[in-house]
Amino acid sequence: MRVLVTGGAGYIGNKVVEELVDRGYEPVVFDMFYWGDKALDPLSSSIEKIKGDCRNSKDVIYALENVDAVIHLAGIVGEAACLQNHKAHFSINVESTRTLINICTDPELDLVRDFIFSSSCSVYGNVEGLYDEVTEKTPPHPLSHYANAKLRSENIILERSKEVSHFHPTVLRVSTVFGWSRRPRLDLVTNLFTYLAWKEGQITVYGDGEQTRSLIHVGDVARAFVDVLESPRFKRDGEIFHVGDRQNNRTVNQIAETVKSIAANTDIEHDLEANADRRDYSINCSKIKNIIKWKPQWSVEEGIENLSRKLEELDWDWESDSFRNTSYDYE
Ligand SMILES: NC(=O)c1ccc[n+]([C@@H]2O[C@H](COP(=O)([O-])OP(=O)(O)OC[C@H]3O[C@@H](n4cnc5c(N)ncnc54)[C@H](O)[C@@H]3O)[C@@H](O)[C@H]2O)c1
Repeated sequence: MRVLVTGGAGYIGNKVVEELVDRGYEPVVFDMFYWGDKALDPLSSSIEKIKGDCRNSKDVIYALENVDAVIHLAGIVGEAACLQNHKAHFSINVESTRTLINICTDPELDLVRDFIFSSSCSVYGNVEGLYDEVTEKTPPHPLSHYANAKLRSENIILERSKEVSHFHPTVLRVSTVFGWSRRPRLDLVTNLFTYLAWKEGQITVYGDGEQTRSLIHVGDVARAFVDVLESPRFKRDGEIFHVGDRQNNRTVNQIAETVKSIAANTDIEHDLEANADRRDYSINCSKIKNIIKWKPQWSVEEGIENLSRKLEELDWDWESDSFRNTSYDYE
């Protein structure tokens, strides 16, 4: 089975591609390779790589030839990067979804029946005082351009599935990811704190740190995408699933304390004047566990330990912009 993975060279993407290879699929990586393609080196004999822009319908039409399923991960990720690249953000995070869906469901082309979209739990915004935890039925209330685009893309995909009976998409709302992948991101909260503890012995929490975030390991996310793909269509057709772990609903302060418990001699300070990320929600993850039978394998502690080891062992330039999405000109 050939599976097109847009954004397959990215932080989550290379792990998804590895998981597909391990389970005997033929992944086709479709990516602009903004961060290069080195993360895919160990898999190069088992995959096809296509450099292309998912905003460009010609690139997409050619890439989709003989493809059975699509996992759509490509995007500009995180509000900071979206604000810095506003037009690119709109064209990639909203319009390219429309382009992909139009091509996957066009009657003149081969229909791609199975489509899995990587959305985000950011769509819930801040539910403090409203809901103790959010389920897939909780009304979204995005606080950022990034989250708003995710919601718009979800709607584009799910609306089309009502019009085209043989199109079977699934939306995965992924929690904030942590842990090591061969294209590491050090701008995500757990990874950033791990990096700061390792490099400086000091973590700065923006704001009071009492907002709750939901975390999930990148390897567990990759297994979730492939488990969903392998599940019977009737279980996932037109469905939204959270990808997270109830045990990993932690306040930002607790995340900092967890890092400190592993990286001894770390100080934690607060910058109460700083512009803190206002997202605040606890995720209920029963649906994917009950229906797909996926469950996470990594604890936050194990992920931090593993990432710390990699930082120590590998002689990479960890200050490089290529490990952060915030300093890139996507235009
Ligand atoms: N990392 C998280 O915490 C998290 C949480 C929830 C959802 N997600 C979603 O998961 C997906 C992957 O996130 P990530 O953390 O791996 O990000 P990433 O930045 O590491 O990967 C994104 C990949 O998409 C590629 N890309 C960007 N624009 C493209 C375009 N126009 N055409 C083709 N390729 C393009 C980039 O080159 C990169 O390889 C995104 O859709 C993101 O919104 C991520």
